[in-house]
Amino acid sequence: MSQDGEAENLKAEEQSAEDADDSIAVIGGGLIGLSIAWELARAGWRSTVYEKGRFGGEASWAAAGMLSPGGEVEGPSALASLAIESRDLYGRFVENLEQASGLGIDYQECGGLDLAYSPEELRVLEERARVQAAAGIESRPVTAAHIVAFWPRVRREGLAGGRFYPKDGVVNPQELVTALAKACRRAGIQIHENCAAARVEVFEKGATVESCRGTAWHDAVVIAAGAWSSDLEMRGAPAIPRAEPVKGHLIGYRQPEHTCATIVRHRGTYLLQRANGLLIAGASVEHVGFDRELRDEIAAGLAGEAAFVFPHLAETAPSEVWVGFRPESDGLHIGAWGSKRLLLAYGHYRNGILLAPVTAARIAAEINANLQTR
Ligand code: FAD
Ligand code: GLY
Repeated sequence: MSQDGEAENLKAEEQSAEDADDSIAVIGGGLIGLSIAWELARAGWRSTVYEKGRFGGEASWAAAGMLSPGGEVEGPSALASLAIESRDLYGRFVENLEQASGLGIDYQECGGLDLAYSPEELRVLEERARVQAAAGIESRPVTAAHIVAFWPRVRREGLAGGRFYPKDGVVNPQELVTALAKACRRAGIQIHENCAAARVEVFEKGATVESCRGTAWHDAVVIAAGAWSSDLEMRGAPAIPRAEPVKGHLIGYRQPEHTCATIVRHRGTYLLQRANGLLIAGASVEHVGFDRELRDEIAAGLAGEAAFVFPHLAETAPSEVWVGFRPESDGLHIGAWGSKRLLLAYGHYRNGILLAPVTAARIAAEINANLQTR
C-alpha cells in the first residue's frame, strides 16, 4: 500500500474511533435530527449527527415556520394530540435554545386568522372549527368589521368574516436550526456536515453506520433524514417505511414591519411575516420527486393568491422564491422500529417545524427507557 493509502486508512480508523465513543447516531441534520441530538445531550447522551449537506439546509430551511394546529389539523387524531403537545412545548424550547446558543430566535405567539369571502366559506370555517374544538384546538369567530379594524390591509370587498386561532404562532426555522447547531456543538455533539450515511446495520447490542467517516459503532441509530430517510441501505432490521418528497414553492416580499402581524389564511393559502420583514406566502403541494427547479407559473399563482388577501401586494413582485421537500410517509414515524437499537423520526410532512419539540422528547424518552449504557 502507498504511504498516502496508509495515511488515509489511519485517518479513517481515527475518525471511526472518535465516533465509536458516541452512543447514539442521528442520521440527518435537519430540525428533527438536531432537536433529537440536543434533547439527548440534555439527557446525558453523547451523539453524532451525520448530515449529507449543510445542517438544516433542506425542508427545515425552506419551511414557512407556522406553528399552527389551527391551520393544519382537521380534527381529533394522533397528529392533533402531538401538534397541541408540541405547540405547548414551543415557548420553553425556544427559550432554552436561546440560552444554550446565545442567539436570538424570532418566535411570535401571534395567532392565526382564517378569512371567509362568502357565506359558504364562512360556513366551512365554522364547521371545521367545531370539529377542531373536539380535538382541543380553540378558535373564535371574528366579524368582518373587526377584521377591517385590526387587519387593515386585508381585502375588504366580499369579506364575510373569519375565525381567529389564538394559539397559532410563528418561528423563523432558519434561526432555529442555526441556534440548534450552535447549541449542539456547545453540548459536545459531533455534527458531520457533507457526510452522508450510506448504510445502517442493526445488531442485538448496537448498530453500525457506514458514512464518509468509515464504519462507526453506536448504541442506537435514529433515522431523521426527512424525505430521504428510506434511501438508506438497511441491514438487520425490517424494511423501513417509504419516505416521499412533496415539493412546496414559497414566495417572499420585503415589507414594512407589522404588515401581517398574525398568520393570515384564505382557503389553501397562508401568509405570515418574520421579524426581519420578510412576508411569506405559500405554498404549492407538488408530487414531482426531488425536482429543485423554481417554476415561474407556480410563483405567479401564489403571488395572485397573496394579492387577493393583501391587495397592496399586487403592486410589487416577490423578492424571493424558493422550494423545499416535505417528508411524507404512510404516517408519522416516531419511535423504535423492530429493535430498540433502531429508531425512526420522519414523516412529519407539513408540520415538522411544529412537531420538533415533541419528536425530540419522545425519542429521548424511548432511548432513556430502553438503553441502559451511557
Ligand atoms: P429536513 O429538514 O429535510 O432534514 C433532513 C436532513 O437529512 C437533510 O438536511 C438532508 O440533507 C439529510 N440527509 C438525507 N439523507 C441523508 C443521509 N443519507 N445521510 C445524512 N444526512 C442525510 N412545517 C411546519 O411545521 N410549519 C410550516 O410552516 C411548514 N412550512 C413548510 C413549507 C414548505 C414549502 C415545506 C417544503 C415544508 C414546510 N414544513 C412546515 C414542513 C417542515 O419543513 C418539515 O416537516 C421539516 O422541516 C422536516 O424536518 P426534517 O429534519 O425531518 O427534514
Ligand atoms: N405547513 C405548511 C406547508 O407545508 O406548506
